[in-house]
Amino acid sequence: MQRLHEIQKPKGKLGVLLVGLNGAVSTTFLAGVMAVRKGLAQPIGSLTQMGHIRLGKRTEHRSPLIKDLVDLAKLDDLAFGGWDIRNENCYESAVHAGVLHREHLDAVKKELQALQPMKAVFDRFYVKRLQGSHVKKGKTKFDWMEKLREDIRSFKEQQELDRCVLIWCGSTEVFISMNGVHKNLKRFEEGMKKNHTDIAPSMLYAYAALKEGVPFANGAPNLTLDMPAMIELAKENNVPIAGKDFKTGQTLVKTVIAPMLKARLLGLSGWFSSNILGNRDGEVLDDPDSFKTKEESKLSVLEGILQPELYPDLYKDYYHKVRINYYPPRGDNKESWDNIDIFGWLSYPMQVKINFLCRDSILAAPIVLDLVLFMDLAQRAGMKGIQEWLSFYFKSPMVAKGLYPEHDLFIQLMKLKNTLRYLKGEELITHLGLEYYD
Ligand SMILES: NC(=O)c1ccc[n+]([C@@H]2O[C@H](COP(=O)([O-])OP(=O)(O)OC[C@H]3O[C@@H](n4cnc5c(N)ncnc54)[C@H](O)[C@@H]3O)[C@@H](O)[C@H]2O)c1
Repeated sequence: MQRLHEIQKPKGKLGVLLVGLNGAVSTTFLAGVMAVRKGLAQPIGSLTQMGHIRLGKRTEHRSPLIKDLVDLAKLDDLAFGGWDIRNENCYESAVHAGVLHREHLDAVKKELQALQPMKAVFDRFYVKRLQGSHVKKGKTKFDWMEKLREDIRSFKEQQELDRCVLIWCGSTEVFISMNGVHKNLKRFEEGMKKNHTDIAPSMLYAYAALKEGVPFANGAPNLTLDMPAMIELAKENNVPIAGKDFKTGQTLVKTVIAPMLKARLLGLSGWFSSNILGNRDGEVLDDPDSFKTKEESKLSVLEGILQPELYPDLYKDYYHKVRINYYPPRGDNKESWDNIDIFGWLSYPMQVKINFLCRDSILAAPIVLDLVLFMDLAQRAGMKGIQEWLSFYFKSPMVAKGLYPEHDLFIQLMKLKNTLRYLKGEELITHLGLEYYD
């Protein structure tokens, strides 16, 4: 199979910039990578580190590790930095987040202590439940954005980097609908100079990164990249973008169970999803405006998978509700319940109950790692704009205009693996397999 993309070798170090450097997801990711580098732990949950990929026919028995097939940056070659509104080092924040035990954190204490955030671009209007003093000053949003560009340039210089990737691991901002100011680059740039209310801090980070040629992936449900202006900038500057909202706990399960119902043509009359969590993310989502952003992202998956327009008898009128309740005693250990009312042959009702006792940041950390390495791969392969092949990692995958997103986890995985095969000039796998029976 002929490939269209030449992949540049991953030379030197790769910079990893995180917005929300001191948050639970970021510090769990950082401490984890540091522990894995020292041989103290395994990168469980990371496709780039532990996943294999089948190549050729089943009779060929070729299934290398993904990291051996494609040239991914090595964990030892990652250099970290980022921004936060909290002026503390990453060890203090990781202890505070309470995700990892002290035995794991203390093994990488020195490295975590050395990581201190740069001053953030922050406005309480967009995240009502937080306040912080470690923030930049500036008259306009354009000034703030310019300061972020300076930060990126000096990080690259200090760390002697050619390449960087930026992942948004910051808090969920209030809900913003796409409107005129997001429509094209010119209007967005004018909007920054005029302090337009519908330009949130996450958009300023995204604009700054894309201007500096740095790939940007969005781990939160914020609008951030989902607008013509950012897509235009990414294409203009040849930068990959991906989003949005890490697919970790309840939605991960939803995008496995819903395709099963659809595959067997079982009807759905209701799906009630409830969560309790007590970390800072839970506290932020306790604000109705931030919750609305998350709710939109969580609700979208069922409609996309079940296609009620094609199957009105099965899926036209189902009731779908998602609740997130802030419950401090649980910390990062989220518990979710799903009650699913389904119906089968001759409309006889049945129920499915799921109770997932997960750990939010433990599920999110390997996603951050995979996105860092795959976004860097995409850039070295000359892939610009929306990276739909990374939908696997997101609750609300970005897609080209006019397309509906694929939410089914296994379609997403097949798409990701076929993209890697394609990049390496390997045959795509269709699972037709008739040749085995000739
Ligand atoms: N953990 C998961 O399973 C999961 C899944 C999907 C999405 N997410 C999203 O990932 C994000 C991070 O989650 P978390 O649990 O680490 O939350 P967290 O509250 O622990 O961390 C967020 C960090 O972002 C910082 N921050 C907020 N606004 C900022 C700004 N403008 N600039 C710089 N820093 C800023 C906060 O100070 C905080 O340290 C959230 O938006 C969350 O909704 C998490």
